[in-house]
Amino acid sequence: MKYGYFDDAAREYVITEPKTPWPWINYLGNEEFFGLISNTGGGYCFYKDAKFRRLTRYRYNNVPVDVGGRYYYVKDGDVVWNPGFKPTQTPLDKYECRHGLSYSRFSSEKNGVGAELTCFVPRGATAEVHKLTLENRSGAGKSLKLFSFVEWCLWNAQTDMENFQRNLSVGEVEIDGSTLYHKSEYKERRNHYAFFSVNAPIQGFDTDRESFIGLHDGFEAPQAVREGAPRNSEAHGWSPIASHYLEIDLAPGEKRELVFVLGYVENPEEEKWESKGVIDKRRAKGLIERFDSVEKADAALAELKNRWDGLLAGYRVCTGDEKTDRMVNIWNQYQCMVTFNMSRSASFFESGIGRGMGFRDSNQDLVGFVHQVPERARQRIIDIASTQFEDGSAYHQYQPLTKRGNAEIGSNFNDDPLWLILSVTAYLKETGDWSILEESVPYDNDEAKATPLFEHLTRSFDFTAKHLGPHGLPLIGRADWNDCLNLNCFSTDPNESFQTTENKAGGQAESLMIAGQFVLYGREYARLCRKLGKAEEAARAEGEVAKMVESVKKHGWDGKWFLRAYDFFGKKVGSEENEEGKIFIESQGFCTMAEIGKEEGLCEKALDSVGERLACEHGIVLNNPAFTKYVIEYGEISTYPPGYKENAGIFCHNNPWVAIGETRIGRGDKAFDYWKRIAPAYREEISDLHRMEPYVYSQMIAGKDAFKPGEAKNSWLTGTAAWNWVTISQYLLGIQPDYAGLRVDPCIPSDWKEYVVDRRFRGVQYRIVVKNPSGVCRGVKRLVVDAEELPGNLIPLFEAGTKHEVEVVLG
Ligand code: BGC
Repeated sequence: MKYGYFDDAAREYVITEPKTPWPWINYLGNEEFFGLISNTGGGYCFYKDAKFRRLTRYRYNNVPVDVGGRYYYVKDGDVVWNPGFKPTQTPLDKYECRHGLSYSRFSSEKNGVGAELTCFVPRGATAEVHKLTLENRSGAGKSLKLFSFVEWCLWNAQTDMENFQRNLSVGEVEIDGSTLYHKSEYKERRNHYAFFSVNAPIQGFDTDRESFIGLHDGFEAPQAVREGAPRNSEAHGWSPIASHYLEIDLAPGEKRELVFVLGYVENPEEEKWESKGVIDKRRAKGLIERFDSVEKADAALAELKNRWDGLLAGYRVCTGDEKTDRMVNIWNQYQCMVTFNMSRSASFFESGIGRGMGFRDSNQDLVGFVHQVPERARQRIIDIASTQFEDGSAYHQYQPLTKRGNAEIGSNFNDDPLWLILSVTAYLKETGDWSILEESVPYDNDEAKATPLFEHLTRSFDFTAKHLGPHGLPLIGRADWNDCLNLNCFSTDPNESFQTTENKAGGQAESLMIAGQFVLYGREYARLCRKLGKAEEAARAEGEVAKMVESVKKHGWDGKWFLRAYDFFGKKVGSEENEEGKIFIESQGFCTMAEIGKEEGLCEKALDSVGERLACEHGIVLNNPAFTKYVIEYGEISTYPPGYKENAGIFCHNNPWVAIGETRIGRGDKAFDYWKRIAPAYREEISDLHRMEPYVYSQMIAGKDAFKPGEAKNSWLTGTAAWNWVTISQYLLGIQPDYAGLRVDPCIPSDWKEYVVDRRFRGVQYRIVVKNPSGVCRGVKRLVVDAEELPGNLIPLFEAGTKHEVEVVLG
């Protein structure tokens, strides 16, 4: 069952039923100011950091789900309704929510009144703009009463939910014409405030929640709205809000357009006060003025659309399969931008107060994003590398506002350092900007300890090389990519976190996933050294990698697949010998991507085993058989019910590793099949089962052992976005950025005849036509660039600004 449809020409998903199986959300903003907005207007906004600078309140895990947002109440006689359906849930005569690229538009109608509400964050603005149009489509005159509503948060969203003895006394507001200011704690220590304005005179307002809603009422029936009478309240403590009241008379056919601005301002020290206790509002007024007419708001929205035209023009495909094309050309790239912006901080599954930016997560997100805005990727690399320690290990997470590592979660996730090699080499290949390697980058944010970025890579590589266990395989530390495989933890206390609790000393647990990662990114490191003319260092790295390959073959092969690990006691994890968890996905993915033992047929065997034991119709599960009891020496993985999360869930993040592995042995049909199983556009028809948005990937789909296989959770912020982008764009469609040009190495379904990729690469526009006359999956037989046949499969670099025609024939 579907709840809407894709409008590919408009680049929108159109939701036609407000009661979706879960709130289906969108993101506003791409730079510093962000909003989360659901298909019923729920959500919140923040400046840079959802924990420290949250403007509006959001209560997660609420009943009913998803209440609280930017709400507009239309009172038409006795009927009160919302253009986004919630919170009144008054049945609408027409409802449509279009989630587009960085904007959402609600179009609804009730009793002959039409409403259109478009919400977006204009480029370069620290504000949301809401353009609201009310139109009388009935035959009689209408006297409408309109109430806007947002509820302010105290900006440290964490204490907002904990420290009521303080918070309920600090609220302060100012009311200035049609602008309502929230200035709690704006004194010597704080220079930021928020405001909500409308570009028309108002006939009333409220800034105190209790006065507006009533203490015993809810968002669905605020007393001021019910009675059609604002209280003109001024908040002193308790819960400040902002609500405008407008009386709107519309003759038949008449419409009224309004522009609301919900913004954030920081004042410099010398511009803090207008007079004693009164904030200097010049910056807010400047921001409001930028969008104080419909023309200005429309122009800002058009600019945003142009921006997306430009961003998406970096990679465009035409395969003839509309689902593939919409994933590649629109939604996957869009999700990559969002995960790059948010890491794992703020979604409808991540509260914005817990995790900040993950070290491993952000490095992986970068590979999905680097072709869009490479300058931002550059800064991100430097921010991430600045949280690395001198020994090459790293803080597992850092806070976006301060850019400092989170001490509470600390370090020792031993896969972390190697992801930096992935992101830096991806950046170099995309941009050719070698200067980044010379940038002076601190360790643990201490400038005194800075070295060139290149040295960070050496230390990343060496951290693994120097932390090997008894089988010559990398020590796992707290955990590797799989946060829940805690081999040194031995937790018996249900109140402690597996991720932060003290690990048992003397742990020798080793990871085959990190081994594969070391081979793959160690080779990248060695290749980079060669490029830089560091032949000795390259040879040293190649030597270490060769040793690792031998260790994997000797100690990491179980007969039909790669082991997952050795536990604290040196026992095999992910082996036929085990009762549960005989086979895991991560080591199959990484060891096959690294092509370990490919010549001896190990990759093929391992991938066949994945197909037999882990794959199911909804994707590839993480392990099999699922754990049915808690295994103290494995940790959190065995606490989940079978089929969920890391315990045999379809953890979508690592499905692409297997798909890429399949391309390494030339099995394009299989690789494409795996890609399709989890790609949301292919799951749209089963939206009632899948439950999450059909336009973005979810972190997890319940696996074959679950109560309800196929049910997804945790949409949006997942490494799945970047990895699927890499899979489809580089390994299936086969257009791979490389140091000296674009390498073409498609691995496609054998029945594909032809497709075209338009790729912008280092300022050059390439049109690449791939033809498959003999129905193969892989193998470039002929490469013609601008009518000249070239050997091999590398399209060379050209001068920026030029355009080139490429023909690739497979066979
Ligand atoms: C985390 C990743 C981790 C994955 C598997 C995600 O929630 O963000 O860092 O690799 O879970 O445990």
